[in-house]
Amino acid sequence: MNVSFAFFIILFVMHVNNKNLPKKILSWYDNNKRSLPWRISKKSKKIHYFRVLSEFMLQQTQVRTVIPYFNNFTKKIPNLKTLSRSNEKTVLRLWEGLGYYRRAKNLHRTSKILIKKYKGRIPNSFMELKELPGIGDYTANVLLALIYNQPRVAFDGNVKRVLSRLLNTNIDTKFTSNLFKTKRNGDFAEALMEFGALICKPQDPKCYECKIKEMCKYYTSESKI
Ligand code: ADE
Repeated sequence: MNVSFAFFIILFVMHVNNKNLPKKILSWYDNNKRSLPWRISKKSKKIHYFRVLSEFMLQQTQVRTVIPYFNNFTKKIPNLKTLSRSNEKTVLRLWEGLGYYRRAKNLHRTSKILIKKYKGRIPNSFMELKELPGIGDYTANVLLALIYNQPRVAFDGNVKRVLSRLLNTNIDTKFTSNLFKTKRNGDFAEALMEFGALICKPQDPKCYECKIKEMCKYYTSESKI
């Protein structure tokens, strides 16, 4: 990491934590989050399967479109073991209409490895996760945050936009660990996505409803006040 970039990261972390970003976003999230079928308790036995399946589906598809596919898929294939024993044709049929069918094939291959090598659980290390078919940096980060509460930010388009607007700068997404101070790392990772999808939208962001506008460089820039 070069020195000026490291300095920027430190300033960034100090800036957003000092202003209580995690606390404010989490409080907004608690009151406004959508009830989605994969948002289940971390204590549930289904959490590993539900989170892997939903994150594969959400890789290239919007939440609204994924919901009925997720519900139908879990009705027909209720757990990871059943998925690992299903044949590929069945999996592809359930995926029909969602597109990007490589995701379904990779999910199926991943389920077999998870059952065989990890006793049906998602490994809790970034390196091991990245070795699984269909799991890149983003999905590895999001799964570690959502399942293991690890302090990771998953930079999808929504999250990049939220943080770029807040700081009025392009965010470097190479560094994803320990950027924010909170105990609720999983919720925070998901809250950032939700905030980007519902408030800090690409077009016509709802700045008038935004709970963090006073700390946002985009809002307080001359064009917005
Ligand atoms: N996009 C990717 N993962 C998501 C999640 N868990 N919730 C909402 N949107 C998402």
